[in-house]
Amino acid sequence: MNFKELAQRRYSVRSYQSTQIEKEKLIQVVEAALLAPSAVNFQPWKFVIVTEPALLNSLHACYHRDWFKSAPACIVAIGDHDKGWHRPSDGKDYTDIDVAIAVDHLMLAATEIGLGTCWICHFNAEKCAALFNLSSNFEPIALIPIGYPLSGITPEKNRQSIEQAVQWNRFAE
Ligand SMILES: Cc1cc2nc3c(=O)[nH]c(=O)nc-3n(C[C@H](O)[C@H](O)[C@H](O)COP(=O)(O)O)c2cc1C
Repeated sequence: MNFKELAQRRYSVRSYQSTQIEKEKLIQVVEAALLAPSAVNFQPWKFVIVTEPALLNSLHACYHRDWFKSAPACIVAIGDHDKGWHRPSDGKDYTDIDVAIAVDHLMLAATEIGLGTCWICHFNAEKCAALFNLSSNFEPIALIPIGYPLSGITPEKNRQSIEQAVQWNRFAE
């Protein structure tokens, strides 16, 4: 599978088989995340791999969707705002961006080995931070349910065309 095929194949999986994921595969996808670039190479991220049913149950209380409960594991991507680079000219915090790139690596690596994922941001971050006893510099940025998809078919993508998204040598709204 070349890169374009891989990117085409990934989709937000919202229905999982109950089959447990091999530990090596979970490590493998996080390893891909760790290869991501980050501002000044500060790598302001941590990943909590949740597989224990009791802890998964507590996570479900942070995002009330029945489909979320079908995933046999969930990876919590955490940003460290103390570690992330802040642009001196205006203080812009790059932590979220760095974590997003790492999570994208993770999701594509999962796709490559037949696992499905979905980025979740619409969760109760405060509850999630309390669950893991995070200090204030750490922010749970994404919940990533992971598992073998129930369906092997990638839905059609709804995306901008090249003409809609790209302009050459100018920008007009
Ligand atoms: C930053 C971000 C936040 C998202 N948050 C959620 C979410 O809270 N719940 C959800 O079901 N999907 C969420 N998604 C998935 C998007 O809905 C999905 O990526 C988009 O509709 C494109 O579909 P595809 O991923 O299947 O290609 C999120 C995606 C991104 C990148």
